[in-house]
Amino acid sequence: MSARKHIFRAAGLAAVGAMSVGLVACSGGDDAGATGGGGDGELVKVGFVAVGPEGAWREANETNIQETFTEDAGYDLSYAPAQNNDQKSQIDSFTSFVDEGVDIILLSATEATGWEDSLAYAQEAEIPVVLLDRGIEPDDTSMYVTRIAPDNVEVSGAVAEWAVGAFPEGAKYFTLEGPAGVSVVNERNEGFDAVIGGNDSFEKVGAQTANWSKDEARGVMETVLKSNSNDVQFVFAQNDEMGLGAAQAVEEAGLVPGEDVKIATIDGTKSALEALAAGDLTFVAEYNPLFGDVALDVVEKALAGETVEPSIVVESATFDSPEAAEEALPDRAF
Ligand code: AHR
Repeated sequence: MSARKHIFRAAGLAAVGAMSVGLVACSGGDDAGATGGGGDGELVKVGFVAVGPEGAWREANETNIQETFTEDAGYDLSYAPAQNNDQKSQIDSFTSFVDEGVDIILLSATEATGWEDSLAYAQEAEIPVVLLDRGIEPDDTSMYVTRIAPDNVEVSGAVAEWAVGAFPEGAKYFTLEGPAGVSVVNERNEGFDAVIGGNDSFEKVGAQTANWSKDEARGVMETVLKSNSNDVQFVFAQNDEMGLGAAQAVEEAGLVPGEDVKIATIDGTKSALEALAAGDLTFVAEYNPLFGDVALDVVEKALAGETVEPSIVVESATFDSPEAAEEALPDRAF
């Protein structure tokens, strides 16, 4: 089977540095120059309200942001990871950044809801906010500059489209979800269900969160296989770690991953592509974490008083064969 890749380009994709892109001002804080660095040569103060340690995708994403907003580039970035994925610790960091008078805030939200007061507080202080990866609910685009992320609905829709092709007669499947209340989990369910929800030949035997964790996913899938007498043909794992855990559980049940049970995941980390090359996973949809350059472009434009599209979609690919994985692995950056 030849290596096959989709490249998703959704409306509103702003190529980095494309001057033609319309951008809506939310600028505030110091009048920073367009090339980073305050107007008077001072560093632009960036508050990064981050998720913190969560797995390979998060590590790649947050490292990429920190390696982009360097002092050499004209930025003083303060990294504030959540404590134990706790939203209150994020809200506290967010509030501190506003009180400190940073020039701009980057937010990767642990929870989708509960951000109204924080965003209003930042807007009152004329400090623009850029969402990275995670969205907010309700999605009030007047409260932030833009959201930079791959399109979760398209990415999970690609998983479903692959499943429809892989199982022309349908299948019994189980979904391993990320934590409840996280925007990307809702979006991934939406995109997957939009394709498979109406297909009566697919039977969803259940769904459960495994909190992005390999070990937790192994335990969940062990139970699922036992309670369904191993009669599950397909697992939709909403991130790579959970898919790898599911593959472990399939093997421990005496079944063959990729044959008895096909596992599809989202993220596209190196370990997932290695598992795809080995046949333990069968489909991997990338959710590209490396968009620090796009974030830098957005920050420069926002602080220069330009306008920004409310949603900037990061290109992502899909990998549907060992050959596709082997082709991508040598250059895999995360
Ligand atoms: O928000 C992106 C998700 O968060 C990734 O798919 C997952 O691996 C991470 O923990």
